[in-house]
Amino acid sequence: MQLTIPKGFFMGAAMSGPQTEGAYKKDHRLESFWDHWSDLSVSDFYNKVGSYVGNDFYERYEEDIKLFKSLHLDSFRTSIQWTRLMDQDQKLNPEGAAFYHKVCACAKENDIELFMNLYHFDMPYYLFARGGWENREVVEAYAVYARTAFREFGKEIRYWFTFNEPIVEPDQEYRHGAWYPFLKDEKRGMQVQYHIALAHSLAVREFRKAKEEGYLLKDAQIGLINAFAPPYTKEDPTPEDLEALRMTDGIHNRWWLDLSTSGTLPGDVLETLKACGMAPEMRPGDEEILKCGRVDWLGFNYYQPTRVQAPKEKVDEAGYPKFADPYIWPERRMNVYRGWEIYPKGIYDFGMKMKREYPDMKFFISENGMGVEHEDRFRNEEGEIQDDYRIEFVQDHLEWVMKAIEEGANCVGYHYWGVIDNWSWSNAFKNRYGFIEVDLMGNYQRKLKKSAHWVKALIERRDGIG
Ligand code: BG6
Repeated sequence: MQLTIPKGFFMGAAMSGPQTEGAYKKDHRLESFWDHWSDLSVSDFYNKVGSYVGNDFYERYEEDIKLFKSLHLDSFRTSIQWTRLMDQDQKLNPEGAAFYHKVCACAKENDIELFMNLYHFDMPYYLFARGGWENREVVEAYAVYARTAFREFGKEIRYWFTFNEPIVEPDQEYRHGAWYPFLKDEKRGMQVQYHIALAHSLAVREFRKAKEEGYLLKDAQIGLINAFAPPYTKEDPTPEDLEALRMTDGIHNRWWLDLSTSGTLPGDVLETLKACGMAPEMRPGDEEILKCGRVDWLGFNYYQPTRVQAPKEKVDEAGYPKFADPYIWPERRMNVYRGWEIYPKGIYDFGMKMKREYPDMKFFISENGMGVEHEDRFRNEEGEIQDDYRIEFVQDHLEWVMKAIEEGANCVGYHYWGVIDNWSWSNAFKNRYGFIEVDLMGNYQRKLKKSAHWVKALIERRDGIG
């Protein structure tokens, strides 16, 4: 069956500043958390490729936006880097601002809607050194940064986002010990998660204020982007498995969904955390701040489902209560390069959850994509990568999106992650996600893959052209 997408449904590209821009020391950009980690131990990064390079977007933004246009993509998301826009005195860096003004102008010239995110795991290092998200002053500093960005670009950007996947830093840096500083401390992770919820809410408050004061476009909107995937457990669960599901869903999804739809945090989760001594420190007045956290719409990043079961051990290595263990579904299909399960129906299940539980909130699929290693293997005689696996991946997911829409989900778009190959944190350039290849041995030259032609034809069908 030929896939068709509805008219007016956003089809675009997702990317981020720290993964694409490069130019890490240009125009007085500050050192980021990633630059610091790269300097400290570059062998933690695949092929020793640290945070410095991106995919050369800083120099090639015009070419890239024109490429988006040539594929008929109607929108793209990137992020402002806090390190580029602000100086250490929390004042605007005019050279950094000039770059983002050029990006906004170029998107406009090409008639592409720009979705601008303010934070994609990329804290300025001097703030990280002061305790990062564990420190309330950093929460305040983020609000200053957000206010500065709204005032500076308010007439150029319609769609704003406070955070991309706010769950990732508490998880990767504080709970799982996967990213520098490699901590495994659930309690500190919870404090970080709470402070990010406050930072999000303060930024939304700044956005509303900036709108009232006339700095923003009249129809400007603010959103939050998260990996909201609904968790699953065994088909025949015990009450303990269901409890594991409740807390996983509570910390990963409901925490952000309740915050962004009703300006509160889930009471049952806070109670459980309190009962086991893991509740974050809250101050008088915080409730009022959190109330500001309601947004206009949401982004849903989806790569893989979360599957959990009751934990074998009651406490973790540090002595904190464990809420869940991973559950390996016997029928799972894997993206072996990334080690992530491929389960397109998860996108539909989320759409149905939104329809049932948060019917007034519209959302879009803000990331979905397939990273594959050694794509050179798939070149044809003309040198073009034949990434049929990627076409199949996107088609399967979009089919479930369309089914969710048919059944009433308020989903208004789809952004593919990494339309142009980019730098993937500690995996650097190991797995390539793009419809467009970046030749690292050929001065970052861009080349279309087979999937680029496929997505172009898909959008042409939507628009009745071609
Ligand atoms: C998302 C992030 O979680 O997944 C992106 O928002 C990231 O920044 C993407 O690049 C793919 O994951 P990875 O680790 O393969 O780059």
